[in-house]
Amino acid sequence: MPKSPFFEATGSAYGITAKVFHWAIVLLLMVQFPIGWLMPDIRQGETPGAAMGIHLFIGLSILLLIVLRLAWRLSHPVPAAVGLHRWQRVASECVHWLLYASVFGTTMTGWFFASFRGWPISMFASMPLPALTTPGSPIARLIGSWHSAAGWALLFAIAVHVLAAMFHAIVLRDDVLRRMLPVAYFDRDPPR
Ligand code: HEM
Ligand code: HEM
Repeated sequence: MPKSPFFEATGSAYGITAKVFHWAIVLLLMVQFPIGWLMPDIRQGETPGAAMGIHLFIGLSILLLIVLRLAWRLSHPVPAAVGLHRWQRVASECVHWLLYASVFGTTMTGWFFASFRGWPISMFASMPLPALTTPGSPIARLIGSWHSAAGWALLFAIAVHVLAAMFHAIVLRDDVLRRMLPVAYFDRDPPR
């Protein structure tokens, strides 16, 4: 069956599905980090307020998206390479896997934190999710305490990734950034 740019990678560009996952997660993270930093501290025994409620809602949506995205990524080919050196391909792959891992790690440590506090959490405020441990569990406390560090690791990976994308677009002026831009005509290879 012929491949459709609406779903899968064609030529050297990512398909629509990969782009929707990519940019939806970028937008959600742009909201999630400021909420995480600005929301009021919450003490043992208190129930989550509105800001924390939004943080949990967006965080669990990011978790769902990254799991679906990873499943899509592992079952579909990436677009053909655009003439990079081998070391550049290896480096970018490493950063991509670090991004997947740190998004997953940040969301899961948050879920452990909520489980430690004994908060009931649900996907889209309607599908209850199980607690990962019993409330007050020392292991959940430990893993939950890594949430902030996991967020910083994610920010570091994002900074390297975005700087590399800008370097390709502005200095090297190659097609790397174009592969992932949302605009439709970038889905096609330029006419020869
Ligand atoms: C990638 C997604 C996420 C990001 C980027 C993120 C980011 C953050 C940040 C920056 C903070 C503030 C940390 C600090 O003040 O040191 C925070 C706190 C918190 N987040 Fe997240 N978070 C995410 C997902 C989640 C999820 C899925 C949950 C729970 C299901 C969660 C639960 C919490 C809790 C309970 C706190 C308060 C922790 C504390 O007081 O130390 N987060 N988050
Ligand atoms: C303005 C911000 C961003 C820009 C300009 C950007 C740009 C790009 C580009 C151009 C690619 C394709 C690279 C290639 O073809 O080798 C890409 C892939 C990727 N980006 Fe971003 N990105 C941004 C933010 C993010 C963020 C915040 C995350 C993660 C949370 C992320 C995760 C990824 C991943 C995992 C891939 C690899 C896709 C795959 O092949 O599996 N990006 N990005």
